[in-house]
Amino acid sequence: MSEHVVVEREEGLLTLRLNRLDKKNALTRAMYSRMAEVLEAADTDPSVRAVLISGSTECFTSGNDVADFLQAPPTGLDSPVFCFMRALFEMKKPVVAAVAGAAVGIGTTLLLHCDLVYVSRDATLKMPFVSLGLCPEFGSSLILPQMLGQAKAAELLLLGESFSGEQAVAWGIANAALEDGAATLAKAREMALRFQQLAPSAVEVSKRLMKAPGREALRQVIAEEGELFGQRLRSPEAVEALSAFMQRRKPDFSKFA
Ligand code: COA
Repeated sequence: MSEHVVVEREEGLLTLRLNRLDKKNALTRAMYSRMAEVLEAADTDPSVRAVLISGSTECFTSGNDVADFLQAPPTGLDSPVFCFMRALFEMKKPVVAAVAGAAVGIGTTLLLHCDLVYVSRDATLKMPFVSLGLCPEFGSSLILPQMLGQAKAAELLLLGESFSGEQAVAWGIANAALEDGAATLAKAREMALRFQQLAPSAVEVSKRLMKAPGREALRQVIAEEGELFGQRLRSPEAVEALSAFMQRRKPDFSKFA
């Protein structure tokens, strides 16, 4: 529902604030669709100089809504999650993220496609795709090994290990770790507002140049991951893991060969 994504405007800064705290800001199809629509409109609106994506001071997002994954898994490139991630990936304008508390699954993956990321020191970032019977998504299987090396990427993507805001900064995933959620949101807003003072087409051209190397390879990986992720969502392993989350129990993978 659209009230779960609050759109705010302050001068040339457009903020998308996730607002579904009772479910830890888990992302539904309606939320993805709204965010995709707002990002696409922002990118063609000359009065928008930058976009900020934030959650609350306590929680960024617990990732894709697990009930949605079970009941209505994404079916292809037109599904809401793909539309949102494609809009983010194709953004010409700068995107800043403010992350306090949990950033699970796509909540961490999407940060890899933002331009500036501010985190709270005790933020908990995690990509538990394999633990859920799934696989990495939206370029993370290419970007993270390149950024961190195969060994560290394997801990994060295969074992689904969580990491803190401070670690995210040390690894180059985030720009700075702030003392708490309020300081994080304030810092991200301050930095995003800086784009107001800069020449917009110089920012756009520079972002394009920075994103250009390896772009086609990344597109191909995203397409392949998307195909496999969709298949895996329907696999008995994923159904077991996602059902276990909803039933508040540990998944049992012992029956799978
Ligand atoms: N999808 C749907 N519902 C979710 C959710 C998600 N991704 N994450 C949390 N919720 C719901 C819980 O089911 C619970 O609902 P209820 O109050 O109706 O029972 C509510 O949000 C609060 O979550 P809870 O787990 O009790 O809060 P917590 O503070 O103990 O833990 C998290 C917070 C974020 C650490 C934990 O919810 C979590 O790990 N979620 C991640 C789920 C996941 O694997 N996401 C990745 C999908 S690819």
